[in-house]
Amino acid sequence: MGYTITPLSEHTGAEVRGIDLAQAIDETTRESLNRAFVDRSVLVFRDQRLSPHQLLAAVGLFGEIFPQHNSRFALPECPLIHYISNQDFHPDGRRYIPGEGYHTDHSNAAAPPKATVLHAVSLPERGGDTQYVNMHLAYDELPGETKRRLDGLKAIHVYQSRHSARQLMELSEESRDHVPDAVIHPIVRTHPESGRKALYINPIRIEGIVGMADGEALALLADLLELATKPRYQYRHRWRAGDLVMWDNRSLLHRANGDYDMSQRRYLYRVMLKGDAPV
Ligand SMILES: [Fe+2]
Repeated sequence: MGYTITPLSEHTGAEVRGIDLAQAIDETTRESLNRAFVDRSVLVFRDQRLSPHQLLAAVGLFGEIFPQHNSRFALPECPLIHYISNQDFHPDGRRYIPGEGYHTDHSNAAAPPKATVLHAVSLPERGGDTQYVNMHLAYDELPGETKRRLDGLKAIHVYQSRHSARQLMELSEESRDHVPDAVIHPIVRTHPESGRKALYINPIRIEGIVGMADGEALALLADLLELATKPRYQYRHRWRAGDLVMWDNRSLLHRANGDYDMSQRRYLYRVMLKGDAPV
């Protein structure tokens, strides 16, 4: 297959050109895309135009589909796909901007999704970038003393932390029954495929650190977040029509930007892939 994989920054992101994900992909190509995914943490497939069912089939090349938590965003015709939209509102009338503030997806699951995929359906003329920061680099560059302090520490993740600056959309009634109350994950995790260590923090979902007083835990998490989100760890994705972007939740934090004209519709399909319990 005549396709290219080109780095998008020094450490994170690669652009894939010359592949139409609506067509069959051979095994060699599938393996090389999976390798590039682990190495670069973000894959950007340009010029795709996939229906929800084609998107599910394409994403299936990389793993098994993870059922997302809040069914209010599920597409009725294809419920394993959810949508991300700037046209939804909280019950009090405020506009809901999904994904603002750095986080990793669904870390309140016992085995959180290894990957999240977004496929652009409708984009604003400008703005609405997605920012990624590389948690392997952030971990590698921590002072030795901090690494020793983090060794063995575990965080408690819930659907919505009482310390979160961002308010999530309330869970739909039917979702409440199968979203776990709280799970515990290490603050430093090892990538099951590359063996690299990464910081695994999430200001939206972490409720506390096991065995640590709240004040101390919040101060530590705030310090880590500041260290981890330095511009030099970042790849900033500027969306183009037809983009399908897939990222590794085991390696990155990400955030959306609500910096665009809200009268313009921003609408993307979202799919996730099953992952392992972090260790
Ligand atoms: Fe997200």
